Amino acid sequence: MKILIISKRLIYVKVFIAQKNQFWYFKFNIKSFMFKNQTAVITRKERWGSDYFLLSMEAPGIAGKSKPGQFLMVRITNNPYPLLRRPFSIHDHNERNLEIFFQNTGVGTSILSQKQEGDKIEILGPLGNGFHIEDEFKQKKIYLVGGGRGIAPLYFLALELKKENSDIKLFYGGKSSTDLPMAPKFKIEKIKTLCSTEDGSSEFKGLVTDLFQKELKVSIPFFVYACGPEGMLKKISEISRAHSIPAELSLESIMGCGFGACWGCVKKIKKEERPVWSKVCEDGPVFNAKDIIWD
Ligand code: FES
Repeated sequence: MKILIISKRLIYVKVFIAQKNQFWYFKFNIKSFMFKNQTAVITRKERWGSDYFLLSMEAPGIAGKSKPGQFLMVRITNNPYPLLRRPFSIHDHNERNLEIFFQNTGVGTSILSQKQEGDKIEILGPLGNGFHIEDEFKQKKIYLVGGGRGIAPLYFLALELKKENSDIKLFYGGKSSTDLPMAPKFKIEKIKTLCSTEDGSSEFKGLVTDLFQKELKVSIPFFVYACGPEGMLKKISEISRAHSIPAELSLESIMGCGFGACWGCVKKIKKEERPVWSKVCEDGPVFNAKDIIWD
């Protein structure tokens, strides 16, 4: 058997294997080897509103390396069901600890919400590319748009942007005010927070995209970041493009592995002006809004 590494250009390793009359060709993204599997210990659990939870965990091997917009794959249980790990955005971190913020929406999140302090869970991370923060964002007006549980990675992002003295405004939307439990936490950090709800139980009645569009009549930001349901992201993409505002969007996708092995998370993304099936877990989850091809 011959193994030949034929390229280590940029971030890919291409491997060609020849054995008797058979040949195999593999292409690995070297970023796929930079994450870590770790047993994390839950240090705090908080219930936020009716069905949102915040879990803090000690995971020093992963915590210190994390960037806003990256995510973890969490093994919910050691039982056979549910088998697959679930993806969760990193909500906040320090050198030793990580936080995730999630809504109890199904079997996996229900089991996770019942964990207690001292319980151990297996996590894989930090995964994905994360949001890009450029030097030129210093003191610039930056808008964040979060829909429902899509708020989770925006807190970590807002704290990093604050270090750049960016002028941050958050648009936070949900069906009703019970879907906006994080609003006070942003306000404590002195981040201007505008809330919208579909039932009118907050200051603005309507979709968060309507609120965002309304605010653009007052002032245009230098950059936009958004995370939330696909319909919201598509609309933010359209509005941003119409106003020539650059934007980065964090896409959601069903994930099997979280690190590029299963191809279960692909979306069509424009690369060099051509549509390419890209892995949300590995090439994203954050993409430039102008590159996303919406179905
Ligand atoms: Fe497996 Fe993306 S989740 S390739």
